[in-house]
Amino acid sequence: MPQSVSDPKTSSIEPKSSSLIPLLEREKQEAADRLFSLITSRHSVSPKVLQEPGPNEEQLQKLIEVASCVPDHGLLRPWRFILFPKDKRSALSDLFEQALLECLPGASSQERQRARDKAARGPLLLGIVAQLSQDNEKVAHEDQIASAGAALQNILLQAHAFGFGARATSGRAVRTKTFRSALHLGKDETFLCFVSVGTASKPAKHKDRPEPASLLSIWP
Ligand SMILES: Cc1cc2nc3c(=O)[nH]c(=O)nc-3n(C[C@H](O)[C@H](O)[C@H](O)COP(=O)(O)O)c2cc1C
Repeated sequence: MPQSVSDPKTSSIEPKSSSLIPLLEREKQEAADRLFSLITSRHSVSPKVLQEPGPNEEQLQKLIEVASCVPDHGLLRPWRFILFPKDKRSALSDLFEQALLECLPGASSQERQRARDKAARGPLLLGIVAQLSQDNEKVAHEDQIASAGAALQNILLQAHAFGFGARATSGRAVRTKTFRSALHLGKDETFLCFVSVGTASKPAKHKDRPEPASLLSIWP
């Protein structure tokens, strides 16, 4: 068994007495504390309870900007983003239903309606597409997926910082030929997930997170 870190709370990152910290250092510490609390207070909100208002145009641009500020081995930019505007949600409903019928030709009318309802997922609906260069000798497939996952997390965090609720969803529809062809995905492209963003009509469900000490081990 790898040795686990005993108690990270007693490590040297313990804040010093504030009067001893020069102003700039204190500002840095406060910024770090704010970032920590922003990250640790984020919880996904079901798209079913996301209402208007969603992000405005400026906030949307910022969500895309932060998505591009991620670790990116080889600067491949292995991600792109698709906006599903409100006036195209009815067409997206049709697409969800067709994708369901590709997977489940005998789907009931209730199942078809549930599939259609997915298009209403939140005032802002984005798609994240991972563009995976298969034949890159230096940059592994995994590195590219990790970069797209980081883009997703930055969007979720920035949405949370704006005061919105958000959640990533995928599902089997996004793997169908019907869906891929309607979105004009290239052969090296994978639709990673949708991201719904809006105003939460119910508070996010608070989830317990794992204890850091249970996740960290010291090699060997
Ligand atoms: C790429 C991706 C796709 C996901 N797709 C779904 C999904 O289709 N349905 C679902 O219930 N949760 C899905 N999740 C999980 C939720 O978005 C969410 O992360 C999870 O419920 C944990 O909540 P938390 O973000 O508050 O920890 C997905 C997560 C990721 C990263």
